[in-house]
Amino acid sequence: MISKTMQDAINQQIKDEFASAHLYLAMSAYFTSINMNGFAHWMRLQYTEEVSHAMKFYDYLHDRGGNALVPGIEKPAGAFKSTFDAFQQYLDHEKKVTQMINGLYEKATKDNDYATEIMLHWFINEQVEEEKVGMEIIEQLKIVGDSKAALLMLDRQLAARSNA
Ligand SMILES: [Fe+2]
Ligand SMILES: [Fe+2]
Repeated sequence: MISKTMQDAINQQIKDEFASAHLYLAMSAYFTSINMNGFAHWMRLQYTEEVSHAMKFYDYLHDRGGNALVPGIEKPAGAFKSTFDAFQQYLDHEKKVTQMINGLYEKATKDNDYATEIMLHWFINEQVEEEKVGMEIIEQLKIVGDSKAALLMLDRQLAARSNA
């Protein structure tokens, strides 16, 4: 059975994953508003992915005899100046999430909570992937620079994302 303090920490992470989902949905809405429909599609799948992360933690708490809390979520800031600015915010946000996952892992290690440690391996790998993809797209946006034609090509490329 999971400890009370670990349950609290995971419930906080459930809230943070839903908050990520909301932030990315706000980004998707922004991309749609500026007709970057491929970016909007990509970010909407990212929204779905974040909900699935929250639900992974939710299921895990129940598997360990704990109680998952359904959190209230604050409205995301949602101020984006450009495609580049929004993606920079995406990458910065994922770096923060990595720190949160690392914090949970540190706690699991200190508490000798081996099951939580092993469950978190998936999330540690996932954060490597999230930062990698974010960095790649930022680098591509740097190459795009002020070229509208190149931006539209990148938009087409992001439209092809199929996995969430
Ligand atoms: Fe996540
Ligand atoms: Fe991912």
